[in-house]
Amino acid sequence: MVTRDGSRASLALGGHCRVASLESRELNDRDYTRYLSVAERTTYIALPTQTRKREWLAGRLAAKFIFLNRLETSPVTPDRDWRPTLTRLTSDSLDQYPSWMYQQAEVVTAEAKPSLRWCGQPRPESISLSHSTGTSCASLTFGAPIAIDIETTMRRLEAFYRINFSDAEREWAIGATASRSDWFFTLLWTVKESIVKLGCFPQATIWNLPGIEIDGLPRVNNIGPASFGRTFNSEFAVFELSIKERSHVIPVQVAVTGTSNHVLTVVNPLSGVLK
Ligand SMILES: CC(C)(COP(=O)(O)OP(=O)(O)OC[C@H]1O[C@@H](n2cnc3c(N)ncnc32)[C@H](O)[C@@H]1OP(=O)(O)O)[C@@H](O)C(=O)NCCC(=O)NCCS
Repeated sequence: MVTRDGSRASLALGGHCRVASLESRELNDRDYTRYLSVAERTTYIALPTQTRKREWLAGRLAAKFIFLNRLETSPVTPDRDWRPTLTRLTSDSLDQYPSWMYQQAEVVTAEAKPSLRWCGQPRPESISLSHSTGTSCASLTFGAPIAIDIETTMRRLEAFYRINFSDAEREWAIGATASRSDWFFTLLWTVKESIVKLGCFPQATIWNLPGIEIDGLPRVNNIGPASFGRTFNSEFAVFELSIKERSHVIPVQVAVTGTSNHVLTVVNPLSGVLK
């Protein structure tokens, strides 16, 4: 039997969702490690490669920036019309706040899922991070857990499509527009990875993404065209989907934007996260 989990409706908690992107190359000219807390710097130093260090740092700076920016603005009223806003950060925009403020806005990832502290105290905002080929993204919302995922579009081995997607998902991505099917497969992938990050389903891990089924996909013309440019479209396409894993189904809101090479997805569960 399929059960719908509606026990903790979170639409009213959704609040305003902010997303920021920052490219690693924006960090070339200055030492941004001074924007990290002592604990963050210790983690940073231990990261294995320069590429990993830069994406990790860019993700934290993006998260810290949107948090500091939110602190300045008046409290948000919950959105009925949930639609994230995207800010594309540059090294210049990072200068908006002094380094001590960045240090006090600490991103904690002790339990994999990131969370925020401000002046040493836990914050109620929910954050999520993602990186792909030189672009890092962070999302922040008040209270409700949301997840973000950015991926680079590319052609993969046939087995990847066969294993990770249902017949209906494959039909949707291929059938709709063959020339852009890589982009739409990547979109499906980002939704599934976001579901893993949300912890919606205890059994859902990166190793069993095929077990997560996406239903209710909209017409591709309502999503794609505005997101096929050279730079990220700051207007997200927003739609609702049903996500099924074993006998559970949860409704989610999905916001998507992208470039011809990237898909950036934010997922907002409309009902409680299953334990
Ligand atoms: C979470 C996960 C989907 C990330 O996917 P990815 O595409 O490789 O990486 P992304 O760049 O999109 O996201 C990375 C960010 O996700 C966040 N993250 C990692 N694990 C997370 C989790 N369990 N929940 C929420 N967010 C998580 C981190 O903040 C990370 O950024 P950081 O390394 O800079 O701190 C993947 O790492 C994963 O599945 N982790 C869980 C491990 C797992 O399932 N193990 C199986 C055990 S059997």
